[in-house]
Amino acid sequence: MKDYCGYEPDISALSAWRFTRRVISWDVVDSTNNRAMEMARYGEIGPGALLLSGAQTAGRGRTGHDWFSEPETGIYATLVLSPAEFRPTGALMIQGGAGQEFQPGWITLAAGVAVHRVLAALVGPDAEGALDLKWPNDVLWEGRKVCGILAESEVREGEIAFVVLGIGVNVGQTRFPDEILDRAVSLRMITGIGYSRRDVLTRLLNALDQTLSMLAGGRAREVLGEWERASSYARGRRVETRGPGGLLRGVTDGLDPGGALRLRTPDGTVHAIHGGEIFDWE
Ligand code: BTN
Repeated sequence: MKDYCGYEPDISALSAWRFTRRVISWDVVDSTNNRAMEMARYGEIGPGALLLSGAQTAGRGRTGHDWFSEPETGIYATLVLSPAEFRPTGALMIQGGAGQEFQPGWITLAAGVAVHRVLAALVGPDAEGALDLKWPNDVLWEGRKVCGILAESEVREGEIAFVVLGIGVNVGQTRFPDEILDRAVSLRMITGIGYSRRDVLTRLLNALDQTLSMLAGGRAREVLGEWERASSYARGRRVETRGPGGLLRGVTDGLDPGGALRLRTPDGTVHAIHGGEIFDWE
């Protein structure tokens, strides 16, 4: 196995970043999230480690989906984070806590905002308007996914020990397998430009450093506000979701301070959606 993915960020950039401090890369692995989980669990890596792969044999998406991970065209990256980086005073309690306390859900929204900023700049003003964020963190272009984010955490004794933030970006694909043809799109398909994966990744890590630093600096409300402005799903969108209590249908009503999506059902009740997938309610 080669330990080189072909788009490692410029090493000189590392010293400028607060949240990415070390890079480990492979030619191919099963899933960078799997590797990160395992290596962090056994203490081989800690916060600040960025795992990259040229391809994945078992790339995973949210809610049990696969993530198409062919070589040469995509970015497959996972960053290890610690709640302590956001709340230096101590460990994070999973349950409870005031709205202003660090919320793990903020990480994934901050990542979505970072990706949105970068892709908007890359695709330019003509195509930017078709970019969208679907809660919690799909980055869509004309309703098709150009980037997916999968944040997973390890919980020990009721506290989050670490978070692995997996990001997959479709950069240079010219086509996708039939099963996902109508749901996936790449930067190249959007603009016709062949982007450098190293350049896209470096921009992404820069932007991620900025939005994560906002969280760490007590500016989560700004991040959530930016997410809401970038997303057509944030307000007034008819969606449905399947939660523990069954099917919920309603109209979206912004994010709550913890990053949950507020959904107003026809009886006027406002529900906070914390996980799972939302779909358009036709
Ligand atoms: C989704 O949209 O469902 C999330 C997709 C996340 C894909 C990335 S690629 C790098 C990292 N490794 C994985 O196995 N998944 C994430």
